[in-house]
Parts: sequence; structure tokens; C-alpha cells
Amino acid sequence: MLKGLKKYFGRMKAVDDINMEIKPGEFLALLGPSGCGKTTLLRCMSGLERVTAGKVFFDDDDITYLSPKDRNISMVFQNYAVWPHMTVEKNIAYPLRVKKYSQNEIRKRIIWAAKLLSIDELLNRYPVQLSGGQRQRVAVARAIVIEPRVLLMDEPLSNLDALLRVRMRSEVKKLQQDLGVTTIYVTHDQVEAMTMGDRIAVLEQGKLQQLGASDEIYHNPSNMFVAGFIGSPQMNFIEAEITSRNDGLYLRTKGLVVPLLDKFKAKVSELSGKRKYLLGIRPEHIYVAGQAQPGKLAATKGKVYFLELLRSDTVIHLQKEFGFLVVKAPGDLKVEEDEELEVLFDLNRIHLFNKDTGEAIL
Ligand SMILES: Nc1ncnc2c1ncn2[C@@H]1O[C@H](COP(=O)(O)OP(=O)(O)OP(=O)(O)O)[C@@H](O)[C@H]1O
Ligand SMILES: [Mg+2]
Repeated sequence: MLKGLKKYFGRMKAVDDINMEIKPGEFLALLGPSGCGKTTLLRCMSGLERVTAGKVFFDDDDITYLSPKDRNISMVFQNYAVWPHMTVEKNIAYPLRVKKYSQNEIRKRIIWAAKLLSIDELLNRYPVQLSGGQRQRVAVARAIVIEPRVLLMDEPLSNLDALLRVRMRSEVKKLQQDLGVTTIYVTHDQVEAMTMGDRIAVLEQGKLQQLGASDEIYHNPSNMFVAGFIGSPQMNFIEAEITSRNDGLYLRTKGLVVPLLDKFKAKVSELSGKRKYLLGIRPEHIYVAGQAQPGKLAATKGKVYFLELLRSDTVIHLQKEFGFLVVKAPGDLKVEEDEELEVLFDLNRIHLFNKDTGEAIL
């Protein structure tokens, strides 16, 4: 558990007042853009960085000022630091030697970890004789061999090619589940966070923006940063005003009128008409007219400005009075540039943000 954790480098607030409860045995993905403080937060937990303020707890133990080697935490670093002058076996043995395990126990644990990570054939090689993926496995084996209470991983797969990264993702996740070790996994890749994390903590400028399961983060982002960071292509943000008619409330801007469903009205009716609001809707929640669609919809038309033909999907950039509207449609859709196209907003999937604060209202 982290309580009011802060780490400043001079005036740079790398970690800024983070409170977070991590559940035993869970896989927590720590997600955020480059420079948001992910590595620094991990280093504060491992004890490699002295905190500016706040506390780190394991269960009920305050470990804020305990030295790294007494924390029973293992860390896999961003640039998988395996020692080049040591064989795979010696690399894996290293943390056990530091902890003064017996020769017998060391041998037993090396074999266990090496088998688990399928590197038991490579024990006598040096890191230069390994591929990136194998080197990464050595780093993970070295981290788990002491059976840590907490495993910290800092973008462990970022140096691998795309295919290997996908394969290693499922392997690391399976390994974590088998071991049941509480894991905090840093990544700037939303797909990695969504597919691996039991929960995701989204970080930006040293601050925790949201902590929740992936469906919660995707469907109910707490602010514009989270809404824009998760999802690809990015959510559409459209400046709109709230207007009231006899038959209900509407979000309106030039060329677009979106009625609000009854379930949203309570939250919106008390808002001040003077403030600025942004309507948010994901590209996959706008449908092309004529395709079979669920639920309640609102139509709008625009000219097709640009098409991204991914073949699995077609991403349509529609020119509107307020800017571009991005729509994600099926890959086999027949549509051409400059064509006039009608699209439908899924009214159940509307988001609304306060433009000044970025906070989510819906
Ligand atoms: N030792 C240091 N001295 C001064 N500033 C630092 C130090 N370490 C990190 N920072 C700054 O703190 C901020 C957070 O850095 P950190 O390395 O934690 O980011 P990150 O989220 O891990 O980024 P990346 O995804 O690029 O690895 C950055 O602005 C960085 O420049
Ligand atoms: Mg980092």
C-alpha cells in the first residue's frame, strides 16, 4: 500500500502524492506516457529511491526506510540488466548468493526457475550468446528465484520485436498466475496493460489518474486524460453546449444534436449552462448508417475526408463543422473519399467532460 507517496527531484514532481492499495496476488499494470513517473514510483517501492514524503507498506509493515535487500522485492529493469561477465546460471544464482542460501538450495532453485522459463538448456551460456527474448527470460528467472513477496517489472518487454512481445506477454502473465506473486508491471503500452493487468493504474505527471479493472477504465474513464489515453483510435472530443427542450436535454454544436438518454439526465440537469463541455465518443461507438446497429442512436452527416484502410477495420475521418469525426467501421465496408456519409452515435456510449477541469461528468 502506498500512502501519500511523493518523490521530487528538485522542483520536478516525479511522483506526486500517490495513494494506492495493491491486492495480494494481483497483477497491477502501471500505465502512463514517457516521463510520467512510472520508473520512479517503482524505484520508491523497491527502496532504490528514497522517498520525499509518504509511506510504503507491506501488509501492516512500514517498509519506507528499509534497505532494498531487506524488502524481499525483486525488480526486472527497463533495460534488463543481466551481467555480461556471468553465465546464465551465475546470473540467476546471484540474488541467492547475496541472501546466503546454501549451495544445495541454490542449485534446486536455479533448476526450478530455469525450467519454468524454458532456459534450462542455456545455463552455461553468456548473455551475449542469447537472443533478446532469452536474455529477458534470464532477467525474469533471476527476479523470481528468491520467491519475492512482490515482483516489480519495468517495461520488461519493450526491447523485443512485436511478435515475441505478444508471446512473452502471455508467458509472463501465466507465470505470475502460477506463482501467485503480487506483481506491479510498468508499461506505456495500453494493449499490454489491458491484456495483462487484473487492474490498471493510469499515471500522468506523477499523479494517479485512475485505478480500476480494464473495463472500468475503458467504459468509465474518470477524466479526459484517461479517456484519451485508452483506446485506439482515440476518443472523439467535441465541444458542445447543453440545451434543454420540452422533450429533454441535448448536447448541441454546429452540425450535431445529440439527445441525452434519461439515465444521464440527473447528472447533467444540475450543470451550469455557462461552462464549456466536451462530448466524448469512441470511434467504435459511431456506426455507419445502414449497418445493423444496437440501441438508441443519433444521426449526423459529413463528408469522408480520409480513409485508413486497415482491412481488418476501416477508420473513417469525417469532415464536420466542428472538425473531424473519427469512426471505426468494419473492414469490408464500401466507402469512398469525398462521399457524403451518414453515421449514428450510440447514445448509451456518450461521455461528457468539463472542459476546464477535464473531469468526467458522464
Ligand atoms: N535522478 C533524477 N533526477 C532528476 N530528474 C529525474 C531523475 N529521475 C527521473 N527524473 C525525472 O522524473 C520524471 C519521471 O521519470 P521516470 O523515469 O519515472 O518516468 P517514466 O514514466 O518511467 O518514463 P519512461 O516511460 O520514459 O521510462 C521525468 O521527468 C524525469 O526526467
Ligand atoms: Mg521508465
